[in-house]
Amino acid sequence: MGERWQAVDDYIAARLLGDDDALATTLANNAEQGLPPIDVSAAQGKILCLLAQMAGAKRILEIGTLGGYSTIWLARALPDDGALVTLELEAHHARVAQANLENAGLASKVDIRVGPAVDSLTAMDGEAPFDFVFIDADKQSNTAYVEAAIRLGRPGTTIIVDNVVREGSVLDAGSTDERIVGTRALFDMLGANPRLDATAIQTVGAKGWDGFVLARVL
Ligand code: SAH
Ligand code: DHB
Ligand code: MG
Repeated sequence: MGERWQAVDDYIAARLLGDDDALATTLANNAEQGLPPIDVSAAQGKILCLLAQMAGAKRILEIGTLGGYSTIWLARALPDDGALVTLELEAHHARVAQANLENAGLASKVDIRVGPAVDSLTAMDGEAPFDFVFIDADKQSNTAYVEAAIRLGRPGTTIIVDNVVREGSVLDAGSTDERIVGTRALFDMLGANPRLDATAIQTVGAKGWDGFVLARVL
């Protein structure tokens, strides 16, 4: 099935997404610099962009920058006076992302902060609230990241969490893989937290069978 999922994603990209030099250059730079190819797909990136625009987002928070591929899609959703903060553990990833954002003409809107995201998030109390949060870093920390998104958000803030299905492995209740344990804890937390209204949607495509959480802060 994987080949056909990829072919349909290629079809969607050819009809709806067009050629995009900045994004193609980003993926080429990432590969050249040894970054793993775990960026969102093009079709998913455009969903992030459209959702952020539909939400009227002026301030976006991203957790997990990698080479900035999803960052570029999100930053393109911003108005001229908009801003995006993106958190990345690895200094090398952040350097590659900075170069990719400069090449895309978006560097002035994006602030990359290097270090463990929990530490960066703790230091962000008092910053103006975020309208839109995309969580895509270490999966074991996802409940902490959603709690931070609530704290740094406002009623109506949109929260997206990537990679919550992982070929159905979310069903493995006995798993000792901390990413799966973390994802299951995330679902329990989303279901129980009175500050959130949430769903999850499964996806297939260039990135296999996976899915994302879509939540709204109440
Ligand atoms: N959002 C990117 C992909 C992110 S991949 C895109 O779609 O283009 C996950 C990233 O999270 C990696 O770059 C990894 O280094 C980073 N990461 C892992 N643990 C982290 C942590 N504790 N704090 C911040 N970033 C982390
Ligand atoms: C992995 C992480 C991601 O954010 C992703 O989209 C795909 C894979 C990973 O850690 O393997
Ligand atoms: Mg991801």
